Amino acid sequence: MGISILSTGCFLPEKIVTNDDLATFLDTSDEWITTRTGIKTRHIAVGETTSTMGAKAAAQALERSGLSPDEIDLVICATVSPDVCCPMVSANIKKALQIESAATFDINVNCSSFIYAIAIASSMMQTCGYRNALIVGSDTNSQIIDWSDRSTCVLFGDGAGAAILTKDDRRGILSSHLDCIIDQDNMLYCANKIDPTPFSDHAVQGADTKVSMHGSGVMRFAIHAFHDAVEIVTQKAGVKLEDIQLIFPHQANIRILYSAAKKMGIDMDKFYVDIDKVANTSCASIPIALDLAATEGKLKRGDLIMLIAFGGGLSSGAMLLEW
Ligand code: UT7
Repeated sequence: MGISILSTGCFLPEKIVTNDDLATFLDTSDEWITTRTGIKTRHIAVGETTSTMGAKAAAQALERSGLSPDEIDLVICATVSPDVCCPMVSANIKKALQIESAATFDINVNCSSFIYAIAIASSMMQTCGYRNALIVGSDTNSQIIDWSDRSTCVLFGDGAGAAILTKDDRRGILSSHLDCIIDQDNMLYCANKIDPTPFSDHAVQGADTKVSMHGSGVMRFAIHAFHDAVEIVTQKAGVKLEDIQLIFPHQANIRILYSAAKKMGIDMDKFYVDIDKVANTSCASIPIALDLAATEGKLKRGDLIMLIAFGGGLSSGAMLLEW
């Protein structure tokens, strides 16, 4: 008996912002964004929050699973942009789905969070006796990016994805690899707001509370981490790269995938790519891609798939599983 993905769901906000829309208020162009990143459009939340988007993706995954809310034993929300710190985003999601009682918490490992969340959930399913877990990735990046910084704001979008994990007769998760190396230069940085108190003048406000990134450094890390992660999870599972039907990479930049494909000697069509439509949705990136691929009929039972993510920290994670 393995731990497998039973169903998926996703939610993308209605508002679609094109590269040309961004060029109306930024010194940028559709040509620059398309050739440097592969991004054409992104969805931006209007009136939605990380909690509401997460709840909608989760509700879809739950409905497709055929389970009732009281069969969910564990709820984890992966997010880097929580709309609340109290209660947790996962508690809001759980409440929206009327899941009466379940272990519930949020995690933040930046863009690697969803893979970490699945790994944590599967360990808890093995040790705590849980049968079904709801894992959500949801991010409202539009709230944490600096809309005047053309080198970061063009990269991100908002959205949520979800997956239900269950114990069944598939092999499910075959191997995983989680890592985080020291980010000596804060290549990806976003501080929480700190206000002065009656006891301290210390404050963190303004630009430091928005995402800043040394793009080329992060890209070098991503390419390196990508390659290492693929080698480790395939070796751990005793699987060859050619046996894998589809790879779901964190959708950060199409050039990272071109480089990874070249380095690994594989075709680009081995990667599921939706970055052109949804851009970088941080913790939601992988579950959105999984859900889009599943609804497009690109996944069939028994397929071997790989998830790979990298991001702030500098964190990375990969997982090999049977669909
Ligand atoms: O999820 C977290 C993980 N994040 C990532 O994996 C992101 C990884 N990095 C990247 O995707 C790329 O590094 C970027 C897309 C962010 C940047 O691409 P790049 O090829 O590394 O460009 P660059 O930063 O070296 O900038 C090249 C030029 C600069 O101008 P100068 O200094 O050469 O005159 C930038 O100012 O492009 C300029 N530039 C832009 N021009 C038009 C930067 N952003 C823009 C823009 N439009 N939006």
